[in-house]
Amino acid sequence: MSAAATGRVAAIIPAAGSGVRLGADKPKAFLELDGISLLTRSALAMSVVVDVIVVAAPSDALDLASELLTVVDAEIHVVAGGAERQNSISNALQVLPEDISIVLVHDAARPLVPVEVTNRVVEKLRAGAKAVIPVLPIADTIKSVDAQETVVQTIDRNQLRRVQTPQGFDRSALVQAYANAKVLATDDAGLMEAMQIPVHTVAGDELAMKITTAHDLKIATALLGATND
Ligand code: CTP
Ligand code: MG
Repeated sequence: MSAAATGRVAAIIPAAGSGVRLGADKPKAFLELDGISLLTRSALAMSVVVDVIVVAAPSDALDLASELLTVVDAEIHVVAGGAERQNSISNALQVLPEDISIVLVHDAARPLVPVEVTNRVVEKLRAGAKAVIPVLPIADTIKSVDAQETVVQTIDRNQLRRVQTPQGFDRSALVQAYANAKVLATDDAGLMEAMQIPVHTVAGDELAMKITTAHDLKIATALLGATND
């Protein structure tokens, strides 16, 4: 059996961003939804499936991050994040325990991800995939525009997907992808694509939405109420 079929699973949670687009008075991961921080919620969601959680937190708030993670039932490590999300994840990879064979990367900014999504990702990795991402279809019509914002063409949306997290990877493939990274990718799967490693997809979920703006925070609050009913 391959290492991925049997080894322990870790989740890296990048939580070191400042949340400029949300514009709150503290880093986005520390904002609360119904009294529980986005970081705590994301870590709790991961802890149902993974053994180890590595959080990349703002470098001036490592103690606060650790404190928020005391309620999470997993082996927890907290490291200082970097200037970009990719740097934060790179720092987290440095402290991964040796016996981890599968690594999930999950944004702290996606606190409501259902456990079913995480399970789908891990199952496909256990079956031998080296990279797996949760995706959703696109409902809107998509068009490309030129520099004057005039439409160039309509893009076939049937071939497009919205990509969420947790994204899951074979540990050694991910470590190699980060070692080889020459550019900043907007997600981790992008680094695997650059190495020609096939990236498989599983069904995502609207609840795994990313909180980017104040409007998203309102939507997440509403979704939370709906899931608590
Ligand atoms: N992130 C990180 N380190 C960075 C930047 C982002 O760990 N240097 C994390 C964020 O904390 C978040 C995830 O990556 O959980 C997705 O990033 P994003 O939604 O862009 O969050 P922010 O960078 O905080 O937001 P903004 O871009 O609006 O500043
Ligand atoms: Mg950002």
